[in-house]
Amino acid sequence: MKSIVIYYSRTGNTQYVAEVLVNKLGSGLLPLRDKKNRQGAWNYIWSGFDAIMKKRTKLEEINFDINNFDLIFLGCPNWAANIPPAMRTFLERHYWQDKKVIFFCTQESMGAERVFNNLRLLTKGAEILSEKFFNKVNSNKEASKIQIEDWLAKLSAQIRDF
Ligand SMILES: Cc1cc2nc3c(=O)[nH]c(=O)nc-3n(C[C@H](O)[C@H](O)[C@H](O)COP(=O)(O)O)c2cc1C
Repeated sequence: MKSIVIYYSRTGNTQYVAEVLVNKLGSGLLPLRDKKNRQGAWNYIWSGFDAIMKKRTKLEEINFDINNFDLIFLGCPNWAANIPPAMRTFLERHYWQDKKVIFFCTQESMGAERVFNNLRLLTKGAEILSEKFFNKVNSNKEASKIQIEDWLAKLSAQIRDF
């Protein structure tokens, strides 16, 4: 049974959660990279707009076969209570029926429930084992690490075979 952590991160918060997970789980790690420039103030605004409008994007090429994994963690930042185009594009390319998935999201403070709703819509047929959001990860990495470890401890019965 194999697990993988797949994430998109613009400024490192979601990447940090993904890396802590991988260190604990010993699973694979797959970052999604958007070819569109998302840096800077102007692109920040466009990114929010793209997320609200449910836009797709061009992803850097990845080598991923969903059939090789039994448990898939999916993580992304909250963008205006929506999911970033990179994660949307990735999810739409795959068939999620009967996959076991776990969602995580990072954000400043609010909107994660809508992010999870969007993730659920794009992984139809999957069995969702858990959903967890983390606030302001980069500004307190030690506290975030403890939250991540507590979450994994609660999940341990469900994920111990992966
Ligand atoms: C375009 C955009 C929209 C955002 N909208 C929200 C929001 O609605 N609610 C919130 O709490 N944080 C919001 N944020 C903050 C990010 O969710 C937060 O900083 C997140 O941890 C960034 O993850 P990353 O560093 O992995 O990119 C937004 C950030 C961006 C870039």
